[in-house]
Amino acid sequence: MEAAIEIEGLTKTFGHGPDAIASVDHLSLRVDKGEIFGFLGPNGAGKTTTVKMLAGIIFPTSGAARLLGKPLGDVATRARIGFMPETVRLSTFMRAEDWLGFHARLYGMDAGRSRARVKEVMARTGLAGRAGSRVRDFSQGMMQRIILAQAIINEPDLLFLDEPASALDPLGRRDLREIITGLRDRGTTIFLNSHLLSEVELVCGRVGILNHGKLIRVDKLGDITGPVQVVDVKAEGISSETAAAIRRLAAKVEFGLDGRFTATLDSEEQLGKLAEIITRGGGALKEFSPRRISLEDAFLEEIGEDGSS
Ligand SMILES: Nc1ncnc2c1ncn2[C@@H]1O[C@H](COP(=O)(O)OP(=O)(O)OP(=O)(O)O)[C@@H](O)[C@H]1O
Ligand SMILES: [Mg+2]
Repeated sequence: MEAAIEIEGLTKTFGHGPDAIASVDHLSLRVDKGEIFGFLGPNGAGKTTTVKMLAGIIFPTSGAARLLGKPLGDVATRARIGFMPETVRLSTFMRAEDWLGFHARLYGMDAGRSRARVKEVMARTGLAGRAGSRVRDFSQGMMQRIILAQAIINEPDLLFLDEPASALDPLGRRDLREIITGLRDRGTTIFLNSHLLSEVELVCGRVGILNHGKLIRVDKLGDITGPVQVVDVKAEGISSETAAAIRRLAAKVEFGLDGRFTATLDSEEQLGKLAEIITRGGGALKEFSPRRISLEDAFLEEIGEDGSS
């Protein structure tokens, strides 16, 4: 598999002398072509700093990276990259279609191609009716949509998205998901910084977790969220012996009202054992709904719930 992103010891230090803080600390990572990679981490972990270095907005203090096989700063490669920054408020008086057209022309599209492309991306990002509106008057979510439209106007082979869904309504999030998977289907590699773990779960194949500038885990999504099983149960007639047996089996149990409880198990095989313990003990199962632990739970566990690890 060819690499779209190869990062080697990338470091960014802000400040000097004893006050110097490494916001990104010797980060090494490889993302293959065609992947949707989720980059997670608590506030201040260094996600934006990383993406800004890769997008050429700021220079690394040390380390190196290659994008689409070329070192950072390669001009021809930059034309093949899209970057959607963390939400900014654009204060331009330009009309939406003119602002996007301006960006299209920066990529060397002629007037006809640029007009067609602007129409396409406005439709794609749900801004079709707003071509003539002034960008500065856009709502926060519309602002995020037009910044996304700008990031994909060159049909990038590699796309960096920094918290792209933070201001989007449910429809906007669905549009974003469709844009992301549509681009992936035509071969675009996507690097997605996000807090919205449920969004990441829906689209990303692999995720990396950054904490205090260091990459603490990189894995397939399924390996992070599984194989631990959480099961929601409702049962009638659970004796205290049965409850004790459930406690012995499960890694964690939380008993609620009306015979409801949630158990965390170490493996899928234990699901069957749990059902058996209940029925053997004379209990009647009313509900039994296993679910994988969510990325959010896995994430909190990984960083330590207080963010201290
Ligand atoms: N220009 C700067 N000068 C000094 N410190 C900076 C600068 N930019 C970022 N930092 C610091 O670097 C650290 C990482 O910031 P960064 O914006 O990369 O975090 P993040 O993971 O994107 O966080 P968030 O989830 O809040 O967006 C923070 O401690 C931040 O204060
Ligand atoms: Mg950020």
